[in-house]
Amino acid sequence: MRINKLLADLGVASRRSADEMISSGRVQINSHTATLGENVEETDKVFLDGKLLVRKEKTEEYYIMNKPKGVVCTVSDDRGRKTVMSYLPEGCGRVFPVGRLDYDTEGLLILTNDGELSHRLTHPSSQIPKTYLVRIEGTLTEKDLNPIRSGVELDGVLTKKCKAHIVETNKAYTKVHITITEGKNRQVRRMFEAIGKNVAFLKRISIGQLKLTGLDRGECRPLKEQEIAYLKGL
Ligand code: URA
Repeated sequence: MRINKLLADLGVASRRSADEMISSGRVQINSHTATLGENVEETDKVFLDGKLLVRKEKTEEYYIMNKPKGVVCTVSDDRGRKTVMSYLPEGCGRVFPVGRLDYDTEGLLILTNDGELSHRLTHPSSQIPKTYLVRIEGTLTEKDLNPIRSGVELDGVLTKKCKAHIVETNKAYTKVHITITEGKNRQVRRMFEAIGKNVAFLKRISIGQLKLTGLDRGECRPLKEQEIAYLKGL
């Protein structure tokens, strides 16, 4: 098994964060410093910051959170900002966020120590639809959304076709539901910037069929068995 997968399975970090730990020389396999992409055997001893990681039977935990804005989507923040971890229920294991929501974005976030599921949900090939509620200052027409639907250029690449429709509009603001199947950095904000609109409010309201319904801002609950099974089937 790859060393980053083992660290994710042990609930130490997501695969991406595990890679960062490996790159910075914090991980040892037996008596040598681990390298990116290295494989480990059942019998190998793995250390993080010199501490032996015990490969005990793992119990997987899955949570759904309504992330508030003004909170970072990481396990710890080097700038000392509040992280999503502070909204987890007491006594929960070492879970980590699946993917990211911006500091200023709120809404549906999954947290788990199931590295396999996390990897699959965030992999670019997964194409899982994620729906966001967007509020734009001022008016906007359905026609204005056409470039967003057909694809706008971000970092020199066209975004994939997506669904977008207006749910409310008046002189002051317009609310849009947009469903994308990609996860580029600040994608929704940048898609609207590409049509000259500034996103004033952004909230993820669903991942596939999984909805945020019933969870107030900052609330978090364990996922139900059928919800976990649904996500595993995506
Ligand atoms: N798109 C964004 O712009 N921000 C997010 O947090 C998620 C999607």
